[in-house]
Amino acid sequence: MTGSTPTPQELLAIAMDVAREAADTAYRMRAAGVEVAATKSTITDVVTAADRAVERQVLDALATIRPDDSVLGEEYGEEPGAGAPGATGSGVRWIVDPIDGTVNYLYGLAHSAVSLAAEVDGVVVAGVVRNVFTGEEWTATLGGGAWRAGQRLRCSTETDLGQALVATGFGYDAARRSHQARVVAGLIAHVRDIRRLGAAALDLCLAAEGRVDAYFEKGLAAWDQAAGGLVASEAGLRVAGLRGLPAGPDLVIAAPEALFAPLHDRLDDLDAAGGP
Ligand code: IPD
Repeated sequence: MTGSTPTPQELLAIAMDVAREAADTAYRMRAAGVEVAATKSTITDVVTAADRAVERQVLDALATIRPDDSVLGEEYGEEPGAGAPGATGSGVRWIVDPIDGTVNYLYGLAHSAVSLAAEVDGVVVAGVVRNVFTGEEWTATLGGGAWRAGQRLRCSTETDLGQALVATGFGYDAARRSHQARVVAGLIAHVRDIRRLGAAALDLCLAAEGRVDAYFEKGLAAWDQAAGGLVASEAGLRVAGLRGLPAGPDLVIAAPEALFAPLHDRLDDLDAAGGP
């Protein structure tokens, strides 16, 4: 690592500025009309011109402000900083999802977000999630709490899984979606209800303020969960995978302490981390 490492608060300030500009661009491009530019893993996994333009804007802004940092983004992958090949020159790596909830964005459903997190030496220390349509903005720093509109966030105090409103999501691959649907079918009789809102970063932020009680999903990429995961954990949710594993592509569970074990055990029984 070279130079002095910025504090989480300094990184958050940069993230908020960059995310706000990025969300403005996404909003303007949506208002001007949006089309599918390409498909990725399946024909329903779309990328719009806005996904690419917004990520390019974020990359350019970060390259100007923090040229030695590396960036991992959904559309352009890994952009190394000025350090050793494949490594970050500064110890800081940014993780960006230019538009989380791309399908919502395509359909004009007001539930899509720019998600931007900063990692220092592999640990997420700052994150912002900003709803492109409403301007709602969630922020967190490691150890500094989770916040929205000047209010510190606390997760749900629900203790009964049977009363819990649980959000989840589905991947784009048909076989994976079928497995995920079977998991939901096995869970739904044991919870208040299920929500599938279409943007993982926002799901995690809603859980951070008790607008859903808990959330789980298999198959998330780092950019889906880096910023929202920090917001959730700083609001008191336990964010982890199955059987002591960290949250990751196999499974992310975000639940208040009292709900974590019962939800975890149901999901384990239902093989939520399994399947394709
Ligand atoms: C998707 C959304 C969705 C989740 C998928 C993600 P994208 O991200 O977060 O809610 O269920 O797993 O891939 O493609 O809109 O950036």
